[in-house]
Amino acid sequence: MIIPEEHDIAIRIRGLVNAFGDQVVHDGIDLDVKRGEILGVVGGSGTGKSVLMRSIIGLQKPVSGDIEVFGQDMTGGSENDAEALDIRRRWGVLFQAGALFSTLTVAENIQVPLREFYPGLDPALRDEIASYKVTLVGLPAEAGPKYPAELSGGMRKRAGLARALSLDPALLFLDEPTAGLDPIGAAAFDELILDLRDTLGLTVFLITHDLDTLHAICDRIAVLADKKIVAVGTIDELTHLDQPWIQEYFNGPRGRAAIDSAARSGQD
Ligand SMILES: Nc1ncnc2c1ncn2[C@@H]1O[C@H](COP(=O)(O)OP(=O)(O)OP(=O)(O)O)[C@@H](O)[C@H]1O
Ligand SMILES: [Mg+2]
Repeated sequence: MIIPEEHDIAIRIRGLVNAFGDQVVHDGIDLDVKRGEILGVVGGSGTGKSVLMRSIIGLQKPVSGDIEVFGQDMTGGSENDAEALDIRRRWGVLFQAGALFSTLTVAENIQVPLREFYPGLDPALRDEIASYKVTLVGLPAEAGPKYPAELSGGMRKRAGLARALSLDPALLFLDEPTAGLDPIGAAAFDELILDLRDTLGLTVFLITHDLDTLHAICDRIAVLADKKIVAVGTIDELTHLDQPWIQEYFNGPRGRAAIDSAARSGQD
């Protein structure tokens, strides 16, 4: 499917309300994700970052509001709407819990979306696509026939990313991709995401707590607080805002350390 050039907004969210029973998680979220950008989404634990992602990809039905992906209304109605299905095919998702199937090898995991969306695909071609994706995310070819339990945490993240890339997505959703990785592994994963964005022209919706990631690869950052997106901008723009959570987060001790380390790596 060709995505028309005029859609320079990849995701447009207006007035989004999400709730679980009486518990309102989002109370009128407005957000634009620009085509080709890496948008970081931050906010305290439990503020609803994962729920926001789930509602964009259709796993959480909003109470009200509008979500458009590449100009296509995703909340309007029938699940089988052909255009909405076409859009679904064009995104890849790496969930917070990773969620590889433990009884399938890495290569088989990568093939799951291919089997789902292209059931008629020649098995040899499926194998070929899977091994290409394994290489694309920087895993050795030997990782393909391995089971998730046989991989390190960092390799499992890469395998999850390979599966998210299996359908050649235009849009990538990543929920805390570097959580649990050591700083070197996390930095390498950041580089990989940046590389993939640049080479494949992806738009990336990236939920993260990792201040180094925000500095290293995000074009803009959206801050979720008080059930709304309270600010969107570059790190520099955000650090100048007089919002309590933002000040504490970016200008607190860990925020300052990340700024210093970003400045140091800029000098190298
Ligand atoms: N399926 C569900 N049923 C009921 N409540 C839920 C469900 N999923 C999430 N919630 C609630 O919605 C709120 C937001 O959860 P969410 O997982 O989006 O937070 P988060 O910002 O991603 O947090 P974290 O940074 O810890 O991952 C929480 O209060 C959570 O308990
Ligand atoms: Mg979450």
